[in-house]
Amino acid sequence: MVETLKGWKRTHGCGELRKEHAGEDVVLMGWVHRRRDHGGLIFIDLRDRSGIVQVVFSPEVDAEAFRKAEGVRGEYVIAVKGQVGERPAGTANPSLATGEIEVYAREMRLLNPSQTPPFYIQDDIDVDETLRLRYRYLDLRRPEMQKILVLRHRVAKAIRDFLDEKGFLEIETPMLTKSTPEGARDFLVPSRLHPGEFYALPQSPQLFKQILMVAGMERYFQIVRCFRDEDLRADRQPEFTQLDMEMSFVQQEDVLGLVEELVAYVFKEALGVDIRVPFPRLSYDEAMKRFGTDKPDLRFGLEIADVSDLVAGCEFKVFAEAVGRGGVVRGLCAPNCADFSRRELEELTRAAAVFGAKGLAWLALEESGWRSPIAKFFKTEELVALKERLGAQAGDLLLFVADTPEVAAASLGSLRLELARRLNLVEAGQLSFTWVVDFPLFEYSATEKRLVAMHHPFTAPREEDLELLEKEPLKVRAQAYDLVLNGVEIGGGSIRIHQRPVQERVFRVLGLAPEAAREKFGFLLEAFEYGAPPHGGIAFGLDRLVMLMAGRETIRDVIAFPKTQSATCLLTGAPSPVAPEQLQELRLRPAPRLRISGEPGNI
Ligand code: AMO
Ligand code: AMP
Repeated sequence: MVETLKGWKRTHGCGELRKEHAGEDVVLMGWVHRRRDHGGLIFIDLRDRSGIVQVVFSPEVDAEAFRKAEGVRGEYVIAVKGQVGERPAGTANPSLATGEIEVYAREMRLLNPSQTPPFYIQDDIDVDETLRLRYRYLDLRRPEMQKILVLRHRVAKAIRDFLDEKGFLEIETPMLTKSTPEGARDFLVPSRLHPGEFYALPQSPQLFKQILMVAGMERYFQIVRCFRDEDLRADRQPEFTQLDMEMSFVQQEDVLGLVEELVAYVFKEALGVDIRVPFPRLSYDEAMKRFGTDKPDLRFGLEIADVSDLVAGCEFKVFAEAVGRGGVVRGLCAPNCADFSRRELEELTRAAAVFGAKGLAWLALEESGWRSPIAKFFKTEELVALKERLGAQAGDLLLFVADTPEVAAASLGSLRLELARRLNLVEAGQLSFTWVVDFPLFEYSATEKRLVAMHHPFTAPREEDLELLEKEPLKVRAQAYDLVLNGVEIGGGSIRIHQRPVQERVFRVLGLAPEAAREKFGFLLEAFEYGAPPHGGIAFGLDRLVMLMAGRETIRDVIAFPKTQSATCLLTGAPSPVAPEQLQELRLRPAPRLRISGEPGNI
């Protein structure tokens, strides 16, 4: 028989009770975590958000409560009235925060029964993520998931406290808006009142926050949902949360300084961890050369070195010809890996091939000398020079890629991460921040066969590079910056263009004709003519930041209701077909359904 709460008021959280409460009468409410019958006594571990406490039912104390306790199963919701007592000597449970006490039940109410859950509500479960997402409300009952959501809340609160103190206003911007180009596909929303026309869900509030600067708000922030219809990965979701910020009358240094202070405050408040600031800075070029990526993981060394000059005239044709063609030869030194087997070397070669490397040349420096199929092509001086350039010692393995700078960087960059994994170079809890600065303003897109903005088209070029804009656009550097933590890009921003003529020049270089620019961004260009202040800002991936703070591998773990890799919600079944009348109202025709086999369910 299910009972109500009538007349009962909860007095404590289960996890709050300690020795000091001994003798107190309490009313607890929560879920039956576990029930054990023990020779005439029933022990129930009662769980709520605050933790777990042991409740003891004895037929001698109250026969009815005992009888009810006999009937409960895991995840039943119950309320208990009883008295806190110290556990008898020798029965304390040191692994439980409440382990020194227990609650002697005098009365119990069954508030709601439960089906047998498909998995245990505990931390070390080994179940498929599909099942966890399908029953997310059970998954979120697990203490480790609750801890993550608490952390996420604390991070958001610390951000708000800090920015409020610094004079920032949290201002909401529209969700039904016009497409903002951040490089991904838009999610579109059909308009009923304007058949054939669409809103776009914001990929970011970029244009609105700039308009807010023109509007004189001076310091804006928002913890805001963004939507991007792109291929998903462990650190990408179709809807995700940004901490978005913008400031007027600032230069790059001002933004970086404030962000460092903010990050240090958030780590201290939410995790109790001291972060050293200022963060190191790497130029984009340096990051690409030394780490093969613009989001370098600096928790370990394994730096890449260019050896093109050392091998330009060598007998090994693959190297000499690559340099001759204007390419590069770069390498890295894998410490104590000279004994790698043929199979291991083949695996590394395959890993490098993913990023286009046509091969992976290797030289193993054994105690007795070089082991390598290609050592014979090099003079002794050349081998010594390579060894010195890469800082190798006996026992190390040297790996090289000869290709274009882009392919060499990407393949060695990923090899570097693979080696760090194999060699266990990362200690748990290590945090390594770096700024990456001095990005190029544009890059060439081989697929689109035109220049595209490396960040977005509103990023300001460096003053001194303005004259190169039309002549040598690829040489123009941007006033843009990314914040990288442990090899993950957690934030990115820039000083913006605030003058119409400069914005129009950048649009033109991007191949956007003046009419098209006006049609798409006329409101911004117009706003720039009414006293736009110099301004700049940044946006953080809040999910990614919390993921790293919580030591998780995927942002799905730090989002209450995430989507799968195929962008479905396993809990609600979204996306789903809609009623024909709904489509009719929107003047849309249903498309033939193209369900990819296996969906939903692929994570
Ligand atoms: P950007 O596109 O770099 O910049 O986005 C800012 C940060 O948001 C996070 N992020 C994501 N997180 C989860 N899932 C995704 N699909 C996803 N996409 C991006 C990243 C990234 O660093 N308007 C600019 C910011 C600015 O210039 O101020 C912008 O959106 O951590
Ligand atoms: P090959 O001359 O093709 O037999 O290659 C000899 C060695 O050089 C093999 O170990 C290849 O993996 C390696 N190799 C081939 N092409 C490249 C390249 N572009 N960069 C680095 N190593 C390469």
